[in-house]
Amino acid sequence: MELPFAESWRIKMVEPIRKSTREEREKWLEEAHNNVFQLKAEQVYIDLLTDSGTGAMSDRQWAAMMVGDESYGGSKSFFKMKDMIKKLTGFEYVIPTHQGRAAENVLFSYLVKAGDIIPGNSHFDTTKGHIESRKAVALDCTVDEAKDTQLEVPFKGNVCPKKLEKALSEHKDKIPFIIVTITNNTAGGQPVSMENLRQVKEIADKYNKPVLFDSARFAENAYFIKVREKGYENKTIKEIVKEMYSYADGMTMSAKKDAIVNMGGFIATNKAEWYEGAKTFCIPFEGYLTYGGMNGRDMEALAVGLDENTEFDNLETRIKQVEYLGKKLDEYGIPYQRPAGGHAIFVDADKILTCVPKEEFPAQTLTCELYLEAGIRGCEIGYLLADRDPVTRQNRFTGLDFVRLAIPRRVYTNNHMDVIAAALKNVYDRREQITRGVEITWEAELMRHFTVQLKRLGK
Ligand code: F0G
Repeated sequence: MELPFAESWRIKMVEPIRKSTREEREKWLEEAHNNVFQLKAEQVYIDLLTDSGTGAMSDRQWAAMMVGDESYGGSKSFFKMKDMIKKLTGFEYVIPTHQGRAAENVLFSYLVKAGDIIPGNSHFDTTKGHIESRKAVALDCTVDEAKDTQLEVPFKGNVCPKKLEKALSEHKDKIPFIIVTITNNTAGGQPVSMENLRQVKEIADKYNKPVLFDSARFAENAYFIKVREKGYENKTIKEIVKEMYSYADGMTMSAKKDAIVNMGGFIATNKAEWYEGAKTFCIPFEGYLTYGGMNGRDMEALAVGLDENTEFDNLETRIKQVEYLGKKLDEYGIPYQRPAGGHAIFVDADKILTCVPKEEFPAQTLTCELYLEAGIRGCEIGYLLADRDPVTRQNRFTGLDFVRLAIPRRVYTNNHMDVIAAALKNVYDRREQITRGVEITWEAELMRHFTVQLKRLGK
């Protein structure tokens, strides 16, 4: 008999988690203004708020932490990290930062000016925030296929070459660089193909523009290239990663995802002028150039994490778990962005809570219902996260309205996946009784979803 698939690691340390009663959760959610970001972690049973900084480090990463060099200048650990980044990506210059958005802040302080246009594929919210707060425009050029959640195509995260070409031909002088997010988080953790990366580079070269990769989940992207793109099945993940970065001039990285550390990030590039420009912002914002907001021990763990997570077995275990949850939802008929993404399942709330009008935020409503059902914390990636249009101040209802179930790396078992799917099924089965959503009672001007306060209507 063929042996079933199983994890490529075993567990050495555990952390107890606790269930609660529906009554307790009703009270806690009310106290959190119906915003799950404001819950206390101990009020959550299975936490799928994010896969960022929530992964379990390996024994090798913990061991590496013990040899961290905490020198202010010239830390050995910085050079270990820099060497690993160069080995994987080929980039010469590295600036450490405390996380991904800090890398964006440092680099964009140098690169982005008011009136600029930055084309890309579904800019992540902090990326968009750092562009819009500088009075520039984040122009989404994602392929149209990404909008049809039921369409099963292998590289739904791609940049549409036609949209990109149009942006460049119309606004060439206003475009400082192109950004490609791998994997495309906002479109559902969907990968970008090698062919597409190559096409973006060709178009960029034609207009003499640099390309930046937002690389938070670059290793998961490489896994999808290996298993889905012709010609890559026999290449190692590290070989694929190297080729991916041959089409970029630089990267911003949130190491809290694919480097499997709890905190950390960096900028890496081959462009000396980007390095020189960003350097002057790193020191006042993040810290000196050989630590930039990180401890020496964190840089050690980051280097090991990058090495481990660019190995096939680790990625296969991770992505098959996400796929497992997707298959469970298929059994119950629950719609989500197809195919299952790299780091999460994006449940299509609009198709589930059809009785809740968009003005009452269906995905946020479903997020609350799932928490109340079983103490499972997902995250709205929808109309709330989309913020208001900076000019008209109207809500942006044009995108998709998802509940993201982000799976932390090496943390939960497939038994937890079964619980998640069953809880969602229970909500799904009573979807027609859910007719009212939520109303905003307080919101911030930018990135409102973190702190927004909401009232549940019709309660
Ligand atoms: N880029 C992408 C594609 C991201 O997903 C994130 C973070 C960032 C940049 C910013 O990195 O958090 O280290 O400052 N995404 C997390 C998430 C928060 O839950 O998807 P950061």
